[in-house]
Amino acid sequence: MEPPPDPASTDPALPERISDIIRRHSGNRVDIRRAALEGVAVARAHRILDLGCGRGFAIRPLQGLIPPEATITGVDGNPENRVPFLAAAAAAGGRGSFLCRPLRSRLEFPDRTFDLAIASYSLYFFPGVIPEVARVLRPGGSLVAITHSEAAFSTLLWVLGVPPERSALQALTRNFSAENGAAALREHFTEVEERPYPNALTFRPGDVAELLTLVRDKAPLLVPREGGHPRTPAEIEEVARDLLRSTGEVVIEKDDAIFVCRGPQPR
Ligand SMILES: C[S@@+](CC[C@H](N)C(=O)[O-])C[C@H]1O[C@@H](n2cnc3c(N)ncnc32)[C@H](O)[C@@H]1O
Repeated sequence: MEPPPDPASTDPALPERISDIIRRHSGNRVDIRRAALEGVAVARAHRILDLGCGRGFAIRPLQGLIPPEATITGVDGNPENRVPFLAAAAAAGGRGSFLCRPLRSRLEFPDRTFDLAIASYSLYFFPGVIPEVARVLRPGGSLVAITHSEAAFSTLLWVLGVPPERSALQALTRNFSAENGAAALREHFTEVEERPYPNALTFRPGDVAELLTLVRDKAPLLVPREGGHPRTPAEIEEVARDLLRSTGEVVIEKDDAIFVCRGPQPR
């Protein structure tokens, strides 16, 4: 599947702003990407692969923990992620490389290349690579995956006027979600540790601008690719303002899950 349109193309500062909005409005105060790497042997991870790496948010917690000279290979379909990913790899203390590729079901690396693979909010775009991840990991290597739950962002869907059964996110979570991810991974790893990450984002009437920024950023992930946009931006703003006024707060569902997978079983 091709990557969805990236709102950051028109506003490069947006990803940091969104990450900050999510962090400040989250009920769960733990950084999920940091929690994902807990107990993973990162000090022995000489070769690291980040699939759907984006701007490298998932490799930030590696800073100061990986061996000197570790390599970090990011793969992503969006060329605009190259510069920020390489900067994140350097900040993490690794030697970064960025491969701009649309991922489907093949990985171009030899067997047993990597010690650690990371797929943070990305495997649902290309679940067909899971067997390949098991092939390119070394026998002692691990895959760390982070994903959404099937009900994530239900309230945002309502604000956008998208029926859940038509949402792009629901099509994606059918591929790989908090609910179905472990079963898909157990076919290719002997040990799959599930770490639920319960969370919700709360917005109050003074937070309308931040809520609308989040709606604008997440819309490409939620609105069906075909069939147009059910509500105009002005209508969306009106619905969000009304909801905040009438209920006093808007709670956005954002339960996620982490899977730490060991014992890769190449086919
Ligand atoms: C939600 S972002 C996650 C980025 C990063 N892993 C993080 O945790 O912040 C998903 C990323 O997957 C990339 N992507 C989506 N579909 C892809 C595909 N088929 N092939 C390669 N990259 C893809 C997008 O370009 C985007 O950078």
